[in-house]
Amino acid sequence: MAHQPAYDYRQTWPVNPEAPRDSYEAKAPYVDNGVQPISPERYWSADYMDAERKLLWSRVWNWAGREEDIPDPGDYITFEIGKESFIVTRDDDNRLRAYFNVCPHRGNRLVSDEEGCRPGGFTCPFHNWRFGLDGKIAHVTDRETFRPEALCRSMDLVEVRCESWEGFIFLNMDREAKPLLEYLGPLVDHAKPYRLKDMRIMRRVQAVWESNWKVAVDGFNEAYHVHAIHPQILPVFNDYNAQIDLYPNGMSRMVTKFATQSPRMDADGLNPGLRATMIEVGLDPDSFAGTKDDVRQAIQKAKRQRAERLGLDFSGFLDNQLTDDWNYDIFPNIQLGIHPEGVSMLYFRPHPHDPRKFIFDVIVMMPPQEDAQILPPAYMGLPEGWDISGREKAEIQHIDWREGGLGEVFDQDSSLFAEVQRGIESMAFKGSILSEQEQRIGHFHAELDRYIGQPGAQG
Ligand code: FES
Ligand SMILES: [Fe+2]
Repeated sequence: MAHQPAYDYRQTWPVNPEAPRDSYEAKAPYVDNGVQPISPERYWSADYMDAERKLLWSRVWNWAGREEDIPDPGDYITFEIGKESFIVTRDDDNRLRAYFNVCPHRGNRLVSDEEGCRPGGFTCPFHNWRFGLDGKIAHVTDRETFRPEALCRSMDLVEVRCESWEGFIFLNMDREAKPLLEYLGPLVDHAKPYRLKDMRIMRRVQAVWESNWKVAVDGFNEAYHVHAIHPQILPVFNDYNAQIDLYPNGMSRMVTKFATQSPRMDADGLNPGLRATMIEVGLDPDSFAGTKDDVRQAIQKAKRQRAERLGLDFSGFLDNQLTDDWNYDIFPNIQLGIHPEGVSMLYFRPHPHDPRKFIFDVIVMMPPQEDAQILPPAYMGLPEGWDISGREKAEIQHIDWREGGLGEVFDQDSSLFAEVQRGIESMAFKGSILSEQEQRIGHFHAELDRYIGQPGAQG
């Protein structure tokens, strides 16, 4: 590796050491989560999975969908996490409401499709009980055949908290949970320049991967494995000098520099990856006067000029936001890589009953574009000619991870995580030993322990 100043784990590598304290790029104060190994049972034990169901998923904000998908009263989507299913809808006053997708009569699922519109409310297909959009019971079939005392229990749908941020609708089963915006902490401010509310999901691919959901969250929370598993991106990605910020509520951030060569490489001159990145923003590598270390800045400048020409407003962005990956981990199961051109969102959900599998959604969001000159940046991995007009809702594409199709980097991770899952279950493995490049993982598990309790202690 090229010569590096001494590593200070409390500082990591601030992307701008001069940043004022209140700036979006400011390094957050270090949080000491200790160095004890992370207990391995949490990745495979059915008891631990059950504890997560009772103590974690029932108390955190769960992302359920986007507001634009249910614009009018009676529009609904269903959302599933573990064994639970929810209906997310709008009531007659157009307010977002969410209910467990369970009929109080005999427990049937009220709706079985992923989306639809029921302006008159919901009718259970088993015995035709009806419920208003406000969740209240509107009709009990053959009411006279029930003894009055049988009907004195609540017959309304069970409502859950439902709040939104930048068009993302979240649910929380815990009535005492702190409000969503408070839970999201610094991200609410940091995300403002990106106008996520105006973005649309352009592609959503879903696959069942062969590991516990936390193996994947851990994996995507560090860049330490990049040189070993994804060496093909080192020419344009500084995997080593990342800024890591730890925030309240289990949230963390990592800012990694793109458009710059990894210090693990010692090639001089403009490597082919850097040249391609330059060409993408209209710079000519052959006539470029600078060195490889000037490319990132030149790209930032070119992106600003191009944005002006295309009438895009980049004024709210710091220079390093134009090139780098600003990656936020929303505890427990969302990672957002946010860029001015769009967002790459990773969403990890537990399998309903197998702790060795999880449901993985890879989502690309962008502002809708009519101008054919505005192409999605290559890093988003959208297939050529992909519709980014946002006119049609992007249907979920279900794929089998063994056949690939998520892009080279994800395909490398999918086989890796299956191997990690197998190794973790060995009696020889005593729990992860984390470097400070992996401090987001320690931060995540410290928060998880606050929900679940210490291993072995869950009841
Ligand atoms: S289970 Fe829903 S009406 Fe009977
Ligand atoms: Fe990876």
